[in-house]
Amino acid sequence: MTRITNKHLLPIYDRSMVEWAVEAMVTAGIEELLVVAGGEHIGDFLRILGDGHSYGLESVTYSVQENAGGIAEALGLGERFAKGGPVVVMLADNIFEKTFRPTIDAFKANPVGCRLVLSEMEDPAHLSHLGVPEFDEDGRIASIIEKPEIPPSHFAVTGVYCYGGDVFDVVKTLKPSGRGELEVTDLNNHYVAAGAVSFDVQPGFWGDAGESIEAYQEVGEFVARNGANKL
Ligand code: G1P
Repeated sequence: MTRITNKHLLPIYDRSMVEWAVEAMVTAGIEELLVVAGGEHIGDFLRILGDGHSYGLESVTYSVQENAGGIAEALGLGERFAKGGPVVVMLADNIFEKTFRPTIDAFKANPVGCRLVLSEMEDPAHLSHLGVPEFDEDGRIASIIEKPEIPPSHFAVTGVYCYGGDVFDVVKTLKPSGRGELEVTDLNNHYVAAGAVSFDVQPGFWGDAGESIEAYQEVGEFVARNGANKL
């Protein structure tokens, strides 16, 4: 299907993946959205989301990422949108059983550095496809390993990231990884090294529906039975 459309437009239960992500952001208290997608299907996002009003958004802006340059590159496209202020990034293939609003509220109270949402994984097989934090003896994040062969903990870094307005300067210092992308994990490790990372452990189910076809099915079945983005 992803030969003819964008992964985030595939259905999860009764609506497209991206609509669950929009609902997650709105429920968390985000009112202005910038959607970043590849040029080929950006018009389809506009057709689904429109001006965002029916989803409870004040506004939606659209931006095209020309190449698969990575999540941090996509974030960099939001510099003008953010107007020097803090931002929340969400990868639209992430599905949360419960709202991450407490994280957003805490970040709004102190919108600097980087605040991450972690999820404790029941099935550690997922971890080698995700970003995984390594903790020091005081329980702080010592580093984040992207797609580790041997996961250093059983927590995943989910695709919700809060950043202070300095993030756009940090993105400009990143170098492409082995797969030629600006990696969000390198960005986050910058904040780890600066001692500017905080995190919350998300209650309830979390899944990355884009991880594999099995994960896509698992997430879809979970949502059909239990719903998502609950208060
Ligand atoms: C990305 C991040 C990874 C994170 C995951 C969450 O992986 O690189 O650290 O755990 O999103 O969905 P990707 O989905 O791009 O492979």
